[in-house]
Amino acid sequence: MDDSNKKDDKPAEGLRKGLTSYGDSGFSLFLRKAFIKGAGYTDNALDRPVIGIANTGSAYNPCHGNMPQLIEAVKRGVMLAGGLPMDFPTISIHESFASPTSMYLRNLMSIDTEEMIRAQPMDAVVLIGGCDKTVPAQLMGAASAGIPAIQLVTGSMLTGSHRAERVGACTDCRRYWGKYRAEEIDGEEIADVNNQLVASVGTCSVMGTASTMACVTEALGMMVPGGASPPAVTADRIRVAERTGATAVAMAKQGLTPDKIMTGKAFENALRVLLAIGGSTNGIIHLTAMAGRLGFDIDLERLDAMGRETPVLIDLKPSGQYYMEDLHKAGGVHALLRELKPLLHLDTLTVTGRTLGEELESAGPGFPQNVVRPFSQPIYPQGGIAVLRGNLAPGGAIIKQSAANPELMEHEGRAVVFENLEDLVTRIDDEDLDVKADDVLVLKHIGPTGASMPEAGYMPIPKKLARAGVKDMVRISDGRMSGTAAGTIVLHVTPESAVGGPLAYVKSGDRIRLSVKNREISMLVSEAEMETRRKDNPVTPPTAERGYRQLFLKCVTQADKGVDFDFLRAGETTERIPRDRG
Ligand code: FES
Repeated sequence: MDDSNKKDDKPAEGLRKGLTSYGDSGFSLFLRKAFIKGAGYTDNALDRPVIGIANTGSAYNPCHGNMPQLIEAVKRGVMLAGGLPMDFPTISIHESFASPTSMYLRNLMSIDTEEMIRAQPMDAVVLIGGCDKTVPAQLMGAASAGIPAIQLVTGSMLTGSHRAERVGACTDCRRYWGKYRAEEIDGEEIADVNNQLVASVGTCSVMGTASTMACVTEALGMMVPGGASPPAVTADRIRVAERTGATAVAMAKQGLTPDKIMTGKAFENALRVLLAIGGSTNGIIHLTAMAGRLGFDIDLERLDAMGRETPVLIDLKPSGQYYMEDLHKAGGVHALLRELKPLLHLDTLTVTGRTLGEELESAGPGFPQNVVRPFSQPIYPQGGIAVLRGNLAPGGAIIKQSAANPELMEHEGRAVVFENLEDLVTRIDDEDLDVKADDVLVLKHIGPTGASMPEAGYMPIPKKLARAGVKDMVRISDGRMSGTAAGTIVLHVTPESAVGGPLAYVKSGDRIRLSVKNREISMLVSEAEMETRRKDNPVTPPTAERGYRQLFLKCVTQADKGVDFDFLRAGETTERIPRDRG
């Protein structure tokens, strides 16, 4: 019998949460139940904890191509644990289908996620994401929304095979494209490779941003143990989805909110893992943005100090040789955490309600494998990412040292400057371009406000040098690069050129010095000369007439604040992390 008209004195949980404002709460619930019953639900179903499931499936997002199977498995897990699953759509962002950049839309997706969690009745939420910007956007939104939340990633794609060589997106995409530009392979072969690089649905198969965010999210405690590594098309991935659904119900009952899991110590664990996996440089930006939502500021100097004592242990491309499916077979993130144990906070809470240390204990001992190295035999002796400073980047810059060319890490050279992306595209392959192998390529105006920070920091080697066999050059910009890319590439120069940072005033012919050993990035130009250049060419930051672009340009922060919008960050900073261990 329908009992919707009975007086309802139950606490504001499940469907009773966040009633729509009609000035009569009884009527609001009555109406809500009437509508949901139109979809065939019974009162028994509607009386259970409601678990929202953020559905980011989209025909434009093949990295999320297994979304229907994952949602089905999450729902099964929720129902087995006595909850009511309710999936709902949000924005989905794929790297190659978002213009001008996926980064431009990350904050919008985080707002969408936060507001739909707030607006709709749910006691916990399962966030299903995977492609680079989606996981940070979801965790930023969930951190701000404040209800129990758990991350499920779609999982990595399988590797393909090109003429008996194993290939995967997207380190090999760049490598083969480089060969094609250098005229080492022809049009027919590059078309063949194109069919093999992405062998199934799922996220990029190397330690790019998607894999990085999956690993650091597991270290943060925001996904079920073992949830980072199963490939998208495996039974393991589906089982992780079912466990995620069941765990979400338990989290709803316990009131296990993100602030209890994503603590300062948990972010330190995540940063430690970022360094030890040779993770994407984008990981720093995303972790900074996520931490900023909860009142934590990431201190780049201390992060660099942390990097000096954290070796890279995972042998995945682009720093090493293997792929995500190999990491999974080697024991996944647990195999790494076991090695890093002495450097981790083991008392941080995870979505299971148990601590990271307890989860590690219950995972048992490891087994012999080649993908996760022992602490004593790293693939790179320090953390993958180093923080640079100097008169070119007073607010900091970074370099992925584990994927850089050791011969170029101490380098002084002549700047060859490109004013913006258009200038780069127009001139980089010009046979008359005055450029030599030991020059330093400088690209301006690809920072947050300049061009919404595209992954264009990985500038192509000028064709005439590529043909001559040049594989790497020092490259500097205020932009980002894909986590799948490798090279001696200085990124995230802060402040950016579009707001008048020193990078805006570099001229072709200036001498530039990079010293990774001394953590220095400098232009050898006197302060007096810089002052003259500033006076002669004052920089006017870009503006927009209307819409989201106007909001973006007004409110976006620099890389050192995670490129989040200023009004989305926590009101005040409560802690600087990593904490000073000195
Ligand atoms: Fe989606 Fe690489 S393009 S993870």
